[in-house]
Amino acid sequence: MRVVSGIQPTGNLHLGNYLGAIKNWVKMQEEAECFFFLADLHAITVTNDPATLSANTREMAAALIASGIDPDKSTIFNQARVSGHTELAWMLFCSTPLGWLDRMTQFKEKSGKHKQRASMGLYSYPVLQAADVLIYQATHVPVGDDQKQHLELAREIASKFNHDTGQDVFTLPEAFINGPAARVMSLRDGTAKMSKSDPSDLSRINLSDSNDDISKKIKKARTDAELLPSEMEGLENRPEVRNLINIYAAIADEEPQTILSQYAGQGFGTFKPALIDLVITTLSPIRERFIALKSDEKMLDTILGNGARKAQNEAQKTVEFSYKALGLLRNKLYC
Ligand code: TRP
Repeated sequence: MRVVSGIQPTGNLHLGNYLGAIKNWVKMQEEAECFFFLADLHAITVTNDPATLSANTREMAAALIASGIDPDKSTIFNQARVSGHTELAWMLFCSTPLGWLDRMTQFKEKSGKHKQRASMGLYSYPVLQAADVLIYQATHVPVGDDQKQHLELAREIASKFNHDTGQDVFTLPEAFINGPAARVMSLRDGTAKMSKSDPSDLSRINLSDSNDDISKKIKKARTDAELLPSEMEGLENRPEVRNLINIYAAIADEEPQTILSQYAGQGFGTFKPALIDLVITTLSPIRERFIALKSDEKMLDTILGNGARKAQNEAQKTVEFSYKALGLLRNKLYC
């Protein structure tokens, strides 16, 4: 089992980033050989600010390590350091029909009304993503629900390439879709995703928030006057309450139903303090490590550089196999 996944290096990290992806990754590294990377090449498909990108890439690396990704167990790096990703992407571009990319819903959302002004990078984003996983012969790819379509495309791209070249160049990867508990919503509006760009800081719990901030934000989190139900059906039309239950369940590694059974008939005067306790116990050690690491640029660059070297070794095998399968001539040195 080989697990590969990427995350875009956004800044201002919050509980949604942690529960949505990072926490699952930490669990997986105990069970499989893992390659985790910062998708910095994907980040430049939309407007880019160079200084922010480098800072965000290091910040996300600090968050992963602070949350428990161990560079001795997992290979952690940023995409731009491993040149094979873009090399393989080119080879895949040449066998991917435009029609397949035209179906991608994320491009439609991200390009908005001005499709002609979107970059070719944004359009071909899913092909680079396919290269990201195929290059390591991934068997499993943990992703959020929004990336399911891209993963299906990666499988199609892989089988077409294998078929066209008549060789078994790529392993077909399986998507591991994170459960709904991993979809963390705003504390102010249970129908909107928790987001770094929400103007209200009360809507999210940042990885750098103090214990007091966490406590204040959960106390102010929107709820209603009803008691907690004993069954999931009782959460219908109560998106903010469902969100708090999901957060509790995701942190505690339990099913939301288990949490409801525990708190059925109780009010928020009981539930919120318990949630505050749980969030603080989980996040405060992560925050301490995160803040210390974030300012240690040298250490982060060493870790990412070492990870990239390990990744490059693996990546190169697939890149050479692909060149060869296409009849492209290379120096023997690499083969
Ligand atoms: N597109 C993914 C996201 O926005 C990030 C990503 C890039 C990725 N390459 C990947 C995820 C490869 C899984 C595998 O979440």
